[in-house]
Amino acid sequence: MFKRYRYRRVNTETRMRYRETLISKADLIWPVFLVEGNNIKKEISGMPGVFHYSADFLIPDLKELYFQGLTSIILFPVPDKKDLEYAYHSQGILQKAIPKIKEHLPGLEIITDVCLCSFTVNGHCHIGDNDKTCEILADIALSHARAGADIVAPSDMMDGRIFYIREKLNKNKFKKTEILSYAAKYASSFYGPFRKAAKSTPGSGDRKTYQMDYANSEEAMMEISSDIEEGAGQIIIKPALSYLDIINKARTLFKIPVVAYNVSGEYCMIRNAVENKLCNEDIILEILIAMKRAGASRIISYFVPYLFYKQLLM
Ligand code: PBG
Repeated sequence: MFKRYRYRRVNTETRMRYRETLISKADLIWPVFLVEGNNIKKEISGMPGVFHYSADFLIPDLKELYFQGLTSIILFPVPDKKDLEYAYHSQGILQKAIPKIKEHLPGLEIITDVCLCSFTVNGHCHIGDNDKTCEILADIALSHARAGADIVAPSDMMDGRIFYIREKLNKNKFKKTEILSYAAKYASSFYGPFRKAAKSTPGSGDRKTYQMDYANSEEAMMEISSDIEEGAGQIIIKPALSYLDIINKARTLFKIPVVAYNVSGEYCMIRNAVENKLCNEDIILEILIAMKRAGASRIISYFVPYLFYKQLLM
C-alpha cells in the first residue's frame, strides 16, 4: 500500500484548491523613498524599478496602485542636507508629504520609518547616547503623527525607544497612532542597496553595536517581548528571506501581527536573476509566499509595483 498525492497537482485549478497559503494585495506594504522638490521620479541606481519620488510625482502612481488594491505604504525620507533638526521639523520631507497624500487618498494607510540615519552626518542611527537618541526618535515619531501618519515604525534598534515613543504619543493625544516596531532587526549585508538609495551608509564603522547579531534567535524573542511590553502594536522581522525561522518562532510565541521586511538586497538579487533570465519570475511569489507560510501577517516589499502591474496577485 502507498498513498497517492499527485492527484492534487494535476492542473492549475486543482493546485489552487489545495493551496494552503495565499497572498493577497492587502498583505503588501510598498516602501517609498521620498525626496525634496518637484517633478522627480528617478530610478535608483542598482535598484531597477525603485525610484526616488517627490511628493507631487508620487501621488499619481499611488492613485493607480491604490485603485488596483494597494492598501499601505511605508515612507523613507531622503533629505538633501544632513541636519538632524530636519528629521522632526514640521516642514520636513515626510511631514509635508503626508497631508498631501492623505488629501488625495484618505483610505491609504501611511506608515513612516522613524530613524536618524539619513539625517546624521556620520550615517549612524544614533547620536552616541542611547537614551538621548530615544528622545529624538520620540520627537520624530510625534512629528509624523501630527502630519497624519497612521503608524510609526522605529528602525534604529536603540534600547527603550518604544517606551519613549509610546509615552510621547500618549502625552500629545496620539493614543491611537500605532507603533510598528522593527523589533528584530539584524545587522545585515542585505541592506546595501537601501543605504545607497537613502544616502545612509555609515561613514565609519558598522551597525553591529545596535542591530542584532545574525546568529541569534532567542535574543530576537527577548527584543520582541520587551517591545510588546513597551507598547508596540505590531513587529517587524528584518531581513525576511534568511530569517524565516525567526518569523515562524515569533508567530508561534506572540499574539501580535508579524510583518516581514523583504529588504533591498533580497529584492536586487531576485530581480536581477529574473531580469537576466536565470530564474522564472514565479520566484517572486515563491519567496513572498514562503514568508507568509512562515507566519508573516504582512510583507513590506519593493516588488509591490511589479506584482500589481504584471497582475501576479489575486
Ligand atoms: C534605517 C533603515 C534601513 C532599512 C530600513 N530602515 C537601513 C539600515 O538599517 O541600515 C533597510 C531596508 C532595506 O534594506 O530595504 N535605519
